[in-house]
Amino acid sequence: MNQERWSAVDDYIADLFVSPDGALDQTLAASSATGLPEIAVSPVQGKLLMLLAQAIGAQRILEIGTLGGYSTIWLARALPDDGRLVSLEFNPKHAEVARTNIGEAGLAGKVEVRVGRAQETLPQLVDENPVPFDLIFIDADKPGYPDYLEWSLKLSRPGTLIIADNVVRNGEVVTPDADDPNVQGVRLFNERLAAEPRVSGTILQVVGSKGYDGLALAVVQV
Ligand code: SAH
Ligand code: DHB
Ligand code: MG
Repeated sequence: MNQERWSAVDDYIADLFVSPDGALDQTLAASSATGLPEIAVSPVQGKLLMLLAQAIGAQRILEIGTLGGYSTIWLARALPDDGRLVSLEFNPKHAEVARTNIGEAGLAGKVEVRVGRAQETLPQLVDENPVPFDLIFIDADKPGYPDYLEWSLKLSRPGTLIIADNVVRNGEVVTPDADDPNVQGVRLFNERLAAEPRVSGTILQVVGSKGYDGLALAVVQV
């Protein structure tokens, strides 16, 4: 099994289950044209995010790590008319590209992109004492993941679904002495998630057009 086969099967699945979509295609094209890294979730993963949000009837979604807004658009499409998504992004250029893409997708009224390090915008959000989020998608810098879990719990209620991208890292996650801070970040996140009594979670290994990685899923218990 190799990347070529994973990509071919991902294309096969996308051809079956992901309709060609102007706004999403344009989002990837604009992200690429403006030099953003090509690390958005895949189309098949984007659809999974939308379906999960739909399945839990999410009305309020928090995303940590916007990039060009690709996953944002998938998630926001699951929202009802009065639903709301807040997405946190450190890089002002990424946020600007995302806002344009989100606007073109007709979702500007539901989505707010907040610029700043999530380490700062998350405590600000907590200070606003918002209605708890129904779904939280963690996908920013990997060394930040352990802290993002802690902040996410402050913004949750029992039943909140927490999803974290990139928690397997091509399998490197099983290397305890990995010197990659991204691997160490997700290792600590995974350990904390597993040990955290306020959530019940698991990790799904994922292969596809984006390589070999994994998605953590957890539901807040109390
Ligand atoms: N969720 C996006 C991909 C996000 S890529 C998608 O699937 O379409 C990760 C993003 O997190 C990048 O845009 C990066 O600029 C941002 N980021 C990195 N460090 C951050 C931080 N400390 N706070 C907030 N965002 C951060
Ligand atoms: C990286 C980040 C991501 O969010 C992703 O989906 C893939 C790779 C990275 O920083 O390498
Ligand atoms: Mg990711």
